[in-house]
Amino acid sequence: MAIRAKALAFDFYGTLADLGSVNAACRHAVADADAFGAEWRRKQLEYTFLLSLMGRYRDFLQVSERALDFTLARFGLSLEASERRRLMQAWSEPAAYPEVSGALAALGAKYTLAVLSNGSPRMLETGLKHAGLRSRFKFVLSADAAKIYKPSPRVYQLAVARMRLAKSQILFVSSNGWDVAGAKSFGFKVCHLKRWDAPAEQLGFKADLEAGDLAGLAEALGATSN
Ligand code: LAC
Repeated sequence: MAIRAKALAFDFYGTLADLGSVNAACRHAVADADAFGAEWRRKQLEYTFLLSLMGRYRDFLQVSERALDFTLARFGLSLEASERRRLMQAWSEPAAYPEVSGALAALGAKYTLAVLSNGSPRMLETGLKHAGLRSRFKFVLSADAAKIYKPSPRVYQLAVARMRLAKSQILFVSSNGWDVAGAKSFGFKVCHLKRWDAPAEQLGFKADLEAGDLAGLAEALGATSN
């Protein structure tokens, strides 16, 4: 499919950053790290939705820590402060998926690249630098500037305002189905990166294209690194 865009804007957690590294950080402290990590991520996102509907804002690191408190209680666990710090650090220094760096090099030769994420500015700068990806992006945009979370249109609008492009000139890329629906509802062209097997959200907003990973998207867009 020929997608005409001047820029690509990427969700970060789960799209560029592999949240399996957060689960791995839980292995030392929790028996079923994958179940714990999944509940932690679910509650983290639920809190962003609830706070946004309440008209309240707490930054993503605070929300992630409150979600950790809930998840520890849910699993009947309590951790030493040092162990908590280690788990929280996993959100500030997540591992990137293996194909991301090379695919971004290819995509960056053809498009302006941006990150558009719920992560706090500090989390994103730290996380992108830790993953060696910071220099790939001309823009790193945090929902913190809008004091509300995706899928609020006010967050996607940050990309339009800062990049000075029309919605139709931006291809938004996310592995999170709710984020795909929100970005499509806003008016972006959207790629759903199908990193895990989940049915499409039934919200009436479908992605313009799908890819299994970032290398597949680069190929679909004719952005090859050679
Ligand atoms: C992000 C999370 C929500 O915005 O995936 O990066």
